[in-house]
Amino acid sequence: MPFPVEAKLKDGTRIQLVLAGQADVEPLCQLYQLIVAEGTSYPHDRFPDHDDFMDYWFRGKCTVAAYLVERSPQSGMLGAFYLKPNWPGRARQVANAGFIVAPGWRNKGLGWLLGATMLQYAKELGYRSVIFNLVFSENQAARHLWETLGFTVLGTIPDAVRNNDGTYQDALIMFRSLIEEPMAYS
Ligand SMILES: CC(C)(COP(=O)(O)OP(=O)(O)OC[C@H]1O[C@@H](n2cnc3c(N)ncnc32)[C@H](O)[C@@H]1OP(=O)(O)O)[C@@H](O)C(=O)NCCC(=O)NCCS
Repeated sequence: MPFPVEAKLKDGTRIQLVLAGQADVEPLCQLYQLIVAEGTSYPHDRFPDHDDFMDYWFRGKCTVAAYLVERSPQSGMLGAFYLKPNWPGRARQVANAGFIVAPGWRNKGLGWLLGATMLQYAKELGYRSVIFNLVFSENQAARHLWETLGFTVLGTIPDAVRNNDGTYQDALIMFRSLIEEPMAYS
């Protein structure tokens, strides 16, 4: 894809998607800290150390970050995704991706834009499908978004995720082929 990609959110805000490099590590770190504090979408229950963070979000991956076109030092990173093989070797054509949108930038279409960009980029990189291994079942916004982008639920991992109050929630495994277009989605 010809990064940087420019696009508009639902409210007309002009954003750009860039391939992340060293300069994006700190803003992504700050964004992921918010996600870990929310505790409702990713498995980390505390912020990982720098090496684990780099393994999770950068090393061996394509990472794409969203910023305002007219960005200031205060505006920070709006969202990001990483894209990587879910398995090595013979199964490396199955991709895995992770997404985050900053709390103040949600419900403006950025998640959809990042997801659609990931699907196109994954196809271009030769992946044949994408799997999400751990979609928290209570994460309604993510489930809705992935279904809109043509993902279906392959299965459920019962009680996979411990909530802050000590209860557990299921996690879903979601899948989308990049070879066959999904039958119908809006
Ligand atoms: C999931 C996430 C990436 C979505 O990003 P976003 O920028 O808000 O996504 P969009 O604005 O493109 O779309 C969100 C959709 O979810 C819907 N939605 C939001 N909250 C919802 C809820 N509680 N229940 C059902 N649908 C919901 C919105 O209406 C919108 O759907 P629409 O476009 O059909 O109206 C974002 O919420 C996020 O970063 N969450 C924390 C991290 C995360 O969950 N990552 C994914 C892990 S699997």
